[in-house]
Amino acid sequence: MEAPNNRIMATLIPGDGIGPEVTQATVEVLDALGSPFEWELCTAGMAGIDAAGDPLPAATLESIRRTKLALKGPLTTPVGGGFRSVNVRLREEFKLFANLRPAKTIIPGRYENIDIVLIRENIEGLYVAHEHFIPVGADPRAVAVSTGVNTRDGCRRIARFAFEYAVRNGRKKITIVHKANVLKALTGIFLEAAREIAQDYAGRVEVEDRIVDACAMQLVLNPWQFDMLLCTNLFGDILSDEIAGLVGGLGLAPGANLGEHAAIFEAVHGSAPDIAGKGVANPVSLMLAACLMLEHVGRPELAARLRSAISDALLQDQVRTRDLGGTASTKEFTAALIKRL
Ligand code: NAI
Ligand code: MG
Repeated sequence: MEAPNNRIMATLIPGDGIGPEVTQATVEVLDALGSPFEWELCTAGMAGIDAAGDPLPAATLESIRRTKLALKGPLTTPVGGGFRSVNVRLREEFKLFANLRPAKTIIPGRYENIDIVLIRENIEGLYVAHEHFIPVGADPRAVAVSTGVNTRDGCRRIARFAFEYAVRNGRKKITIVHKANVLKALTGIFLEAAREIAQDYAGRVEVEDRIVDACAMQLVLNPWQFDMLLCTNLFGDILSDEIAGLVGGLGLAPGANLGEHAAIFEAVHGSAPDIAGKGVANPVSLMLAACLMLEHVGRPELAARLRSAISDALLQDQVRTRDLGGTASTKEFTAALIKRL
């Protein structure tokens, strides 16, 4: 939605834990960059419960429905019981079926020249969380049952998205990741649909497939063989953290949740309760997510400027947060970056 003066209305959800710290840093940097975004400030997660008694307040949903565009900090999800993941609910609510997670080396470390784009199916698979317990004897929760759901249409849709992305972005090869030897139905249908779609791109995009466990090992041994990974929901969740590790960790890993009618941009990492409130979080993941957001709204030149400023601050100025072996606080890194801009 365009606001006056070519401003673009977007929903801003600072989130939980380190969320407000990295969000504030990102907004400051976007301002310095002269970004077109006009923010509608909303809450979700624990912050939503505090502000509105609901982890996903109606006002937040309405805002995203209106703007179709959001930048979101991480949201804390209770482990085991408690409320259902708000991230999962947002992806379902707005049919954000594609999760785009690029990992590209900025700081050479254990690995150099990594450039992998992971596409994760974002609303099906085991994350539909059709779960229940079956009682046995005195134990009401003796057996846990979970059902995954993958639809042929859903598998075709994410495969089409991946191949279109490859063509548009000059990528050469897609590796379909599955476990069709064991989960023959649930991930077999994914492999089958992806191979079917691949035929439309024959001669333009190379295709291969890997069983997820072997793929995880290959990513450690020889990640350079991979160009794009096309994954089911669960495998994509796991392998996207792994490829983040190849480029220096969760502080450098952005993600985009994309659907036909809305898009939500976020860091791959969570709310990092262990360092929350200390002012030491690395804001680069969310800033790189903002770059994806700028590209999404047709401002790739701003994204390129921000990426190169990030790389200059990290490499030439050597200003780095603790997770990258530096001593800079979130604020110090942000100041260095704004100076670069
Ligand atoms: P996490 O990603 O929050 O933290 C894992 C480790 O990485 C921690 O040691 C943390 O300090 C470090 N880390 C993460 N981001 C960092 C950053 N920007 N700078 C420096 N260090 C960073 O994962 P964890 O601990 O498993 O989850 C914590 C909470 O976050 C949970 O409630 C989980 O459900 C939620 N979560 C939310 C996500 C989202 O909103 N998209 C994604 C993943 C987890
Ligand atoms: Mg994850």
